[in-house]
Parts: sequence; structure tokens; C-alpha cells
Amino acid sequence: LDNGLMRTPPMGWLAWERFRCDIDCKDDPQNCISENLFRDMADRLSEDGWRELGYVYVNIDDCWSSMNRDEHGRLQADPMRFPGGIKKLAGYMHDRGLKLGIYGDMGTHTCGGYPGTPLDKIEIDAETFAEWEVDMFKYDGCYSNATEKEKGYPLMSKALNATGRQIGYSCSWPAYQGGLPPKVNYAMLGEICNLWRNYVDIQDSWGSVLAIVDWFFGNQDVLIPAAGPGRWNDPDMLIVGDFGLSLDQSRSQMALWAIMAAPLFMSNDLRTISSSARNILQNKMVIIINQDPLGIQGRRILQEKSKIEVFWRPLSNNNSALVFFSRRTDMPYRYQTSLGKLNYTMGSYRITDAFTYKTLTLKDTTNFVVSVNPTGVVMWCNPQKV
Ligand code: DGJ
Repeated sequence: LDNGLMRTPPMGWLAWERFRCDIDCKDDPQNCISENLFRDMADRLSEDGWRELGYVYVNIDDCWSSMNRDEHGRLQADPMRFPGGIKKLAGYMHDRGLKLGIYGDMGTHTCGGYPGTPLDKIEIDAETFAEWEVDMFKYDGCYSNATEKEKGYPLMSKALNATGRQIGYSCSWPAYQGGLPPKVNYAMLGEICNLWRNYVDIQDSWGSVLAIVDWFFGNQDVLIPAAGPGRWNDPDMLIVGDFGLSLDQSRSQMALWAIMAAPLFMSNDLRTISSSARNILQNKMVIIINQDPLGIQGRRILQEKSKIEVFWRPLSNNNSALVFFSRRTDMPYRYQTSLGKLNYTMGSYRITDAFTYKTLTLKDTTNFVVSVNPTGVVMWCNPQKV
């Protein structure tokens, strides 16, 4: 969507995967969906070095609202859990150089059973979000049929634009239509949404990450042309820092999301995150790759019988990124190849390892060995001609 927003993939924090629909503020006050949770995360983003790296969105997901609309038919936040209201919470973000995202559903109810935003409520809800000075809106798709969605998603795009406020627009539409043509029209999505969820929800497990990786790279020829500045495929949140991934798997998620030019929304607890997970999420070189201004989504270029896969993303200034990914589960695998075999044919290249920051220079004809840990990656940045 050419609304001037999200010219590189948006980055920030999103509540859903880690905090779900925990509304028990009486017995679980630290973790329930409440203004305190979002303020806590905003404090961490602004004080622990995240904001400077680009992680600026703090996004509310399902279960934020009251069960009823107000007397004017407007959505309202749950008064017990958000006593200050959403506008004040948005102000809290803006005071810290952050942005607030909110969630709604194209249908009668949200997936969690809260009031939805069906066709006849689109205008009033868009106006309410603008009045609250919200910066991003995720439009989920429970409790509506395909015909309603076909009307609702473009209509919301128009309604948000008509408010005159710049609001990034995330559409869950394709995820509800199987994510593939002919049911999904990616050219059209790129005109009405800034990002869209293509596939199933991520869970806190390696199996879930692998299933998403398989789907996105299995369908890369359909998905790559859909992406670009202002329009992004969204393989869902980063779960680095949660419970399901090993360190190697965490690096793999981060590296592959960077190759995919994916939005980087962490769903974790920034108050208690380990320094090792934080280092992965704050890796500057990987973020630079993710945020490359050309915005070309990368691709899988090789699937070896050895269960090593190679991914490549072209970057601005004739740079590029390479990821060697092991689907093995035995031991570090010594993968032998050459840059020439990976389509680098211009002589000598200077390479930086994105996780160790070691550099090396290789000729395109030189055979080399990379050791890739089981379920892990080696990421090479800017194999650049020298
Ligand atoms: C389905 C979406 O795909 C998730 O990301 C999350 O928003 C839940 N609905 C909330 O109910």
C-alpha cells in the first residue's frame, strides 16, 4: 500500500503469541492483557536499545476491548484493564518515540469472542482508531465469509485513508483464503495493505517455525513478486526469547525472517529476556539485511540431499546475503561448496559472518567448508566483490 508507511518491513513487538488472551489481571497481573503490559514493553523498548534498532511498534492484539460498544456504537477498551483508555496509551508510546498498533476483526466477533468490525462498522471504527492516534491496525478475519472479506478489507483500507491519519494496515485476509492464487490476489493486496498474514499462526515451537519456513519457501515463486516497499508478506511473529527454540533455532528464525524481508514483530517478554536471545534479536547486521531499502524478498536457491539448504537475498549496492541452513538433527555438518556454485562469478568476494562478525575473502572458484549446526544457520552478509 503506497501510503508512505513501512517502506522497509515494520519492526516492533506484538502481544499475541506470548500473552494470548490472558485477561486474568486479578491473579496474573504481570501477564494479563492490560495497559500495564504495553507500558512495560514500551519501557523496555525505549530503555534497552530496541528502539534505536528500529523496533518501534508496540502492538495490541485480541482481547483488549470491552464486550460491548459504547452508547455511540464505538469500540471501547476494557475499563478495568485499560483504565486510561487507548488514546492515553498511544500518547505514552509517542512520548517515547514509539508507535501503537491495535487489533480488530473483519467479522461479527474477534477470534477471541470480542466485538468485531463487520462491514457496517468499518467507518466508525477507522475513525475511532484515528481519533485515538493509533499508528497501525491489524484486521483479523474470524467470523465472516469470503464475500464479506472481499468487501471488508478494501473498504477498511479506504476508511483508514479517509481519516487523514497515517495508519499502517495489516491484513489477515490471505491467511483465511489458503494464501495462494487464484483465491488470493497478491497484486491487489499490495495496493490495499502494508503487510498481510499469508499462513497459519506461529506457536512457540521449532516445528511451527519449520512448517512456516517450508510453506513460505515452497511457495516463493508466488510470494516474492508480491513483496516490496510498503507491501510485505508476513510469516508471523518472532518467538526468539520464548520457550520453544534452542539458540541455534533462534538464530535460524532471525536469519530466515531477514532473508524473507519479513516484518519483525517480537512476541516475547522483554522484561525477562535472556541476553543470548536479546543479542540475536539485536544483531545489527541481520537487521540491516532485513531492512534493506530495495525490499526484495529472498529465495531458497538450493536444497541438498545432505539436508543443507541455501538461501539468498539480493541487497542494495550490489550486496547480498546468504544463509546456509541445516535440517539435520545429528551433528554439525561440514558443507562443501564454492561461491561459484552459488552463482557468484565475479572473482573475489569479501564476506562477513553475521553472527560471529568474522570476515574472510574467497575467490568464486575456491572450494570451502561451512560447518552448520543441526537446526542452525550460518549467515553471510554482503559477499561483496573486492
Ligand atoms: C488469529 C490471528 O492469526 C492471530 O495472530 C491472533 O491475532 C489471533 N487470531 C487472535 O485471536
